[in-house]
Amino acid sequence: VTEGPLVGRHVVISAGGTREPLDPVRYLGNRSSGKQGYALAASAARRGARVTLVSSASLPVPGGVELVPIETALDLQREMNARAGDADVIVMAAAVADFRPAEVGATKIKKKFGAGDPEAPTVELVRNPDILAGLVEARGEARRPYIVGFAAETGDADGDVLHHASAKLERKKCDLLVANEVGAGVTFGQDSSTVHLLRPGREPVTVGPADKNVISDTVWDAVQEELL
Ligand code: C5P
Repeated sequence: VTEGPLVGRHVVISAGGTREPLDPVRYLGNRSSGKQGYALAASAARRGARVTLVSSASLPVPGGVELVPIETALDLQREMNARAGDADVIVMAAAVADFRPAEVGATKIKKKFGAGDPEAPTVELVRNPDILAGLVEARGEARRPYIVGFAAETGDADGDVLHHASAKLERKKCDLLVANEVGAGVTFGQDSSTVHLLRPGREPVTVGPADKNVISDTVWDAVQEELL
């Protein structure tokens, strides 16, 4: 695509869940499908951007998009940080595991340990870095890259979700926060969702329920308004 509002821009998007290994065959994961991040990548590519998608999801890669495969939060952090300097826009749509197993078994964890051992192992977890916070901090006072965060909120009323999301926008200090309501059967793995776009000093904009492609187009419309 040689024409469009994002021609000449490099956008780097993370999508899907991370997988934190316990041993060579098992991992801790989450329900993120990657669909929203992939839809954002496809939409940006249609608008002429050079798109890098950093993801563990196994969805078809949209045409013209470069995929950087990752597994863990630490992989994702390394790949995002390596590309931040060249990015005009960063979108952290990935559901990053907040914790990972402290130790990764070199061999498969067995059901039986031996006489006197406990019935079941205990998995110790350690904190993963907040990748989004690191990207915002590394940018410092610069206005580039424009940084978009996502917030998956569980709430029973929209008011709740908005309340949590605006607090999160202040904490995360990103330029745009896309907040969506999640829960079993809501958003994760679905083709549509309802989101709120929050920007500092602006009224929130609600989109949906709408197809994730429609939501993606609204997100890029909002981002384009702010690009220098
Ligand atoms: O605080 P919370 O996890 O809800 O924030 C969500 C946002 O932060 C998303 O954009 C997600 O990609 C990002 N995030 C991150 N590193 C983490 C956890 C979340 O970059 N360890």
